[in-house]
Amino acid sequence: MDSNEARSIADAELERGLGSFAAADSIDELEAAKTAILGRKSRLSDVQRSIGSVSREERGELGKRVNEVFADLRSAYDARRTELELATGAEILDADAVDVTLPGRRPRPGSLHPLTLVEQRMVQIFTRMGYRVAEGPEVEDEWHNFEALNIPADHPARTLKDSLYVDVDALLLRTETSAVQIRTMQSQEPPVYIVAPGRVYRREAHDATHSSVFHQLEGLAVDEGITFADLKGTLHAFAKEMFGSDVRVRMKPDYFPFVEPGCDLAVSCFVCGGTGCSVCGNGWLELLGAGMVHPKVLENGGYDSERYTGFAFGIGIERVAMLLYGVNDLRLFTEGDVRFLQQFEGAV
Ligand code: PHE
Repeated sequence: MDSNEARSIADAELERGLGSFAAADSIDELEAAKTAILGRKSRLSDVQRSIGSVSREERGELGKRVNEVFADLRSAYDARRTELELATGAEILDADAVDVTLPGRRPRPGSLHPLTLVEQRMVQIFTRMGYRVAEGPEVEDEWHNFEALNIPADHPARTLKDSLYVDVDALLLRTETSAVQIRTMQSQEPPVYIVAPGRVYRREAHDATHSSVFHQLEGLAVDEGITFADLKGTLHAFAKEMFGSDVRVRMKPDYFPFVEPGCDLAVSCFVCGGTGCSVCGNGWLELLGAGMVHPKVLENGGYDSERYTGFAFGIGIERVAMLLYGVNDLRLFTEGDVRFLQQFEGAV
């Protein structure tokens, strides 16, 4: 190659190189162009290698020109490389961008079920009075559920019509938390002060006021010298804590085989104040059954009924929740309708 030819190739390669660097749209394309224009196998490298073989007079001139071409192409390459790097960075930033003006997603806090709320409040009132929480099995034997509670074999509650038997011979779903009275007495010496919240089961219709599964809170106090006045005072204190200090309490005789005497307890209606309204009818809301523990029941629990006396009570948790929250259909508690449950968000 003579010097003229070398010079014109160098000029052409400069043009071609500037063009292909400018046209490269990505760093990969730019690198490929660089190899083609400036690489060891490029035409420009051939030109560079030919410098040595041209005449002495022309060599300096040609060498200078070729260096200029290399320098121009390198700086064009560097400039384009910087441009493409910045653009790629901006693209990445764009893709990763967080729109800080978007409204946030509101967290949806869960809430305790209204029955849990009521149960916890009831338990808390009694634990503050010194009661302890006790438990018993939901699948119970007939002895704990009936016999020991002084419910004789011919009692209607014991028929298949009223109770849910698991195993017809001996096991059933407990029909009342009172069975926990017996289990507690069997497992500890007096004095006993316990409450036992839990599910109970009965063979019932499923409608606004009946359910085959519901909840009770059982209470049992056994000690020396416990009287009916203690029962009255305890339930009175509970009612005032639960429904407000203005509430009045009424006790009427009632019959439960495991207490003697037995009673039921009503509180003055906290909706109308006791004058009578659509919630209470006659001004009173019946809440629970109670009484002095029958001596036979104390004996069945292994206690000396000559030395110890006690009282027991059983409160319907659904009943209290319905009154407290104005719920008029039992089914709302089990249907899981979010619109119903949401109303208890943040409630205590
Ligand atoms: N167990 C009774 C019921 O289910 C309530 C009760 C408990 C009554 C304790 C007296 C004493 O109706």
